[in-house]
Amino acid sequence: MMRSFAPRLSVLALLSVCSRVAMGIDLDLTSQDSIKSVASTIAYDMMTYYRGNYSGQTPGLLPGPPPNPTITDAGYFWWEAGGMFGALIDYWYYTGDSTYNDVVQQGLLYQVGSGDDYLPANQTNGMGNDDQGFWGLSAMTAAELNFTNPPSDQPQWLSLAIAVHNTQLARFDTVCGGGLRWQAYPFLNGYNYKNSIANGCFFNIAARLARYTGNDSYADTATSTWDWLTAVGLIDNSYNVFDGTDTGTNCTIINKQQFSYNAGIFLLGAATMYNYTNGSTQALWQTRVEGLLNQTINVFFPNNTGFEVTCEATLIHCTIDMLSLKAYLTRWLAASTKVAPFIYDRVMVLLQTSARQAALQCSGSPADHPNGRMCGLSWYKGAVWDGTSGVGQQMAALEVIQSNLIQQAAAPLTGSSGGTSQGDPSAGTSTGSSQDPTALLPPTGGEKVGAGFLTAVVTITVVGGLVWLSLPDGKAR
Ligand SMILES: *[C@@H]1O[C@H](CO)[C@@H](O)[C@H](O)[C@H]1NC(C)=O
Ligand SMILES: *[C@@H]1O[C@H](CO)[C@@H](O)[C@H](O)[C@H]1NC(C)=O
Ligand SMILES: *[C@@H]1O[C@H](CO)[C@@H](O)[C@H](O)[C@H]1NC(C)=O
Ligand SMILES: *[C@@H]1O[C@H](CO)[C@@H](O)[C@H](O)[C@H]1NC(C)=O
Ligand SMILES: *[C@@H]1O[C@H](CO)[C@@H](O)[C@H](O)[C@H]1NC(C)=O
Ligand SMILES: *[C@@H]1O[C@H](CO)[C@@H](O)[C@H](O)[C@H]1NC(C)=O
Ligand SMILES: *[C@@H]1O[C@H](CO)[C@@H](O)[C@H](O)[C@H]1NC(C)=O
Ligand SMILES: *[C@@H]1O[C@H](CO)[C@@H](O)[C@H](O)[C@H]1NC(C)=O
Ligand SMILES: *[C@@H]1O[C@H](CO)[C@@H](O)[C@H](O)[C@H]1NC(C)=O
Repeated sequence: MMRSFAPRLSVLALLSVCSRVAMGIDLDLTSQDSIKSVASTIAYDMMTYYRGNYSGQTPGLLPGPPPNPTITDAGYFWWEAGGMFGALIDYWYYTGDSTYNDVVQQGLLYQVGSGDDYLPANQTNGMGNDDQGFWGLSAMTAAELNFTNPPSDQPQWLSLAIAVHNTQLARFDTVCGGGLRWQAYPFLNGYNYKNSIANGCFFNIAARLARYTGNDSYADTATSTWDWLTAVGLIDNSYNVFDGTDTGTNCTIINKQQFSYNAGIFLLGAATMYNYTNGSTQALWQTRVEGLLNQTINVFFPNNTGFEVTCEATLIHCTIDMLSLKAYLTRWLAASTKVAPFIYDRVMVLLQTSARQAALQCSGSPADHPNGRMCGLSWYKGAVWDGTSGVGQQMAALEVIQSNLIQQAAAPLTGSSGGTSQGDPSAGTSTGSSQDPTALLPPTGGEKVGAGFLTAVVTITVVGGLVWLSLPDGKAR
């Protein structure tokens, strides 16, 4: 997914607006009705960006990047819509409001691709393992939360998650001693990068498949993925989760940037492994959950308020993708408390403080939504709107606020505790889905996602004393 450090000039242009301080949305965390009502408002505003259910539009897509995206005018990439549908499944789970369920199901099913594995042909020229993974994560959530099952002639949620796991398992190689590459196909920019989010999506889905199905094969692939990440240093002894590493150096130089969703995706995966295992193995996962939570708090929650540390201070280097990452961190923090209840108290402090701040930050009136309640990213600024707005900011506010209903919410189901989604263990291994990358045509200039964008945003950043050439890419992280 994303890898660009494009200046968001539009952000700067809007900053002048924020001298007018509004009140934000009124949220009372002691009232479930208040939380539900605020979530409803924020979800509504988020969905004003979605047009996929209108005639002539493509279900499952947010307004995408224009054919020749400019730095200030990038649209939403494919993966983020997959993430947004996950937020809306959560919305229904927490609030019981089914307003968006049909639209969510339509979008999630329209994008499965001919192999029923979230590799739709239209996205081939930008397909990251993490992009595919985000759609697979939403299918997994649908299975665990007993979201409306698709009609029987359509692929089922559990099968879709298994298909993502199986197609990705086939892409592991021995370069750097293991691990999954960022991009799915060799001709894509970023194929030489092995990163935490691609491996994190795989790890998270594998752990949850193990728990849902009781099949140890998934626990084994989750464990070996974790072992590789720690061996190569993408997760260090203090449980920092770093961004990625290049195969050109045999993965010896680590890009130490930290993004909140990387911490969150491993936390939920580890918490699920803790729940699935027993004895000394469980004790090992318990230590990992505790360590990951400790470092998540240290890095991403100054004053208990969620903060996207790598870009939020100035916002200038926040790409459109980065604006959504706190949605996934807070989603997975809450979900982790269900399978690892021993972290509940510490997590709730974070979710409560952040939710209050996020509601205050929903005080914006950008030109395209002059309603005085659009959410900025900068929760720590309280009611002083930061001048930004969009799907990512709405989603992040939605997830952190509705997560405060986690205690009353049901635990994620498994196949033996009432889960109704059906899964075929061989999903994703049929000819239709085992795409041979070499058979795919290399992208032409016109088709490659963000091709013109790429060269424009190659940026050199200094990370921990190393000069790091950020991978030029306009795609989702
Ligand atoms: C699309 O979905 C929204 C809910 O997000 C709904 O309000 C709207 O009526 C739908 N539009 C069409 C054309 O179905
Ligand atoms: C792929 O793109 C074509 C042309 O824009 C469109 O008609 C089709 O619905 C798209 N399919 C998916 C799965 O997005
Ligand atoms: C590359 O890294 C892997 C994993 O750390 C290691 O096993 C392998 O020996 C390394 N290869 C070379 C050529 O250094
Ligand atoms: C468990 O998962 C493995 C790997 O996907 C699969 O080959 C096997 O058939 C599964 N076992 C059962 C009982 O479903
Ligand atoms: C731990 O789980 C395994 C199966 O994964 C089971 O065979 C064993 O009996 C369990 N041990 C305890 C102490 O519950
Ligand atoms: C997590 O932090 C707590 C409190 O600071 C500390 O006692 C514990 O040892 C830490 N655990 C790990 C695994 O780092
Ligand atoms: C945290 O709170 C302290 C004391 O109120 C303040 O000085 C600091 O700026 C805050 N940090 C952030 C990131 O909000
Ligand atoms: C595993 O998850 C279930 C469902 O949420 C929970 O009731 C149980 O306490 C968890 N197990 C452990 C060891 O925490
Ligand atoms: C799952 O959903 C089905 C269909 O809505 C319903 O009949 C069933 O009771 C639900 N099961 C659980 C455990 O929630």
